[in-house]
Amino acid sequence: MKEKVVEYIEAAISRVKDSVFVDESRLDFDYMPLRLLHRDVELKRLAQAFHLLLDNLGRASPRALVFGGVGVGKTVLAKFFGENLIKVAKSREVNLVYVYLNCRTVESKWSLVLNLAMKVNPHELAVRGYGPSQMLRGICNYLNDNDLYLLLTLDEVDFFIKRTGENMIYDFTRLGEELTTFPKRIGVIFIARDHAIYELPQLDPSTVSILFGANTIELPPYQALELRDILLQRMIEAFKPYTVSEEVVDFIADIAGEQGDARYAIEILAFAGRYADLEDSRRVTPEHVRKARMKIYPRIRQDYLAPLSIQEKVILLAVARGVKPDEAYIDFKDVRKAYQICCEEYALTKIGLVQLQGVLAELSKTGLVNLKTAHGRFLVGLPEIPIEILRRELENTLNNERNKYRQSKKRPICS
Ligand SMILES: Nc1ncnc2c1ncn2[C@@H]1O[C@H](COP(=O)(O)OP(=O)(O)O)[C@@H](O)[C@H]1O
Ligand SMILES: [Mg+2]
Repeated sequence: MKEKVVEYIEAAISRVKDSVFVDESRLDFDYMPLRLLHRDVELKRLAQAFHLLLDNLGRASPRALVFGGVGVGKTVLAKFFGENLIKVAKSREVNLVYVYLNCRTVESKWSLVLNLAMKVNPHELAVRGYGPSQMLRGICNYLNDNDLYLLLTLDEVDFFIKRTGENMIYDFTRLGEELTTFPKRIGVIFIARDHAIYELPQLDPSTVSILFGANTIELPPYQALELRDILLQRMIEAFKPYTVSEEVVDFIADIAGEQGDARYAIEILAFAGRYADLEDSRRVTPEHVRKARMKIYPRIRQDYLAPLSIQEKVILLAVARGVKPDEAYIDFKDVRKAYQICCEEYALTKIGLVQLQGVLAELSKTGLVNLKTAHGRFLVGLPEIPIEILRRELENTLNNERNKYRQSKKRPICS
């Protein structure tokens, strides 16, 4: 008789064989699509700004600000443009380096510069004990000594500025210009989210127009028909032939068309495919799309909660549990009570009152909660995400963390 486990393994292998996917990784967020669709105007504007790095050697430090909502292709536009600028540079025998940095996960200006140094040359530039300006100067020297040019993309700068209070845009726009004796070698693409950008005191509309002038590139949300093309391209790369019908693609494009968000569209496609596999279906059906849609709320996707610390997640959960569906705000006192219960549930050490207020202040910078005082009361609100969905998502993630911790039998996950 066959061992049960052998049957399990064989079943798992045949399931892979029967999967609707040919290469699921083509649906990953950071996968670079073969072609960038419907962004010709924007690519042309980047070309007009950054050709100066290649044909006006040493005389210009071009910069641009790209902004738009979630999933409108800001990151992929900058990466796609960078890759192609490198190709042109090679054909013209200009040594161009392209560096992409996401500032969301970077703690300070210092670590931002360190990250840049690591990418340009980890051995020579990332020197311990150097301050940011010394290291920036080191980078400029290095480019100069080796006759290199640099196109740098700084993504999610609005997050960085809100979080750290440090306006690095100014530093980086002047980068390479201060050293007047040197040829100019650095171009920078800054990326920010649209609704956040003009809320920054450091970046009011007049500063933006002074700093970036004509190189302010706003990406509009995608129309459903544009999303359809983007989805079709991904579908052909990721799925086996005839597993996804045009009807399914149209259905997803219509759903995501409400936000104009390509990331949401691609994520629904990926989840729908996974549902099809789970049900051993040979085709992705509209019902799989409906299930996928239920699973993902556009504003609460992986990248939204993932960067939060465990304390931040627990505190957010406390707010979500405490706030009533028909009330916009919850009193801080009630957040504290709910927080204490959550800590017991997830076996976490509680933090004190002042720290709790500090974490809420941090969360408010990400837009996940808003804070106000009214009639002497400190109030906390949840502006963005339906409470039910937020609660479910947070409970799922925290349960996963707890299970991981139990399996590893390590020290408490948080103290
Ligand atoms: N014009 C496009 N053509 C092909 N794929 C796109 C396009 N715009 C966005 N995408 C894809 O959609 C997803 C979200 O794009 P992304 O650049 O991460 O958006 P943003 O940075 O604006 O949030 C990525 O998987 C990206 O490859
Ligand atoms: Mg992005």
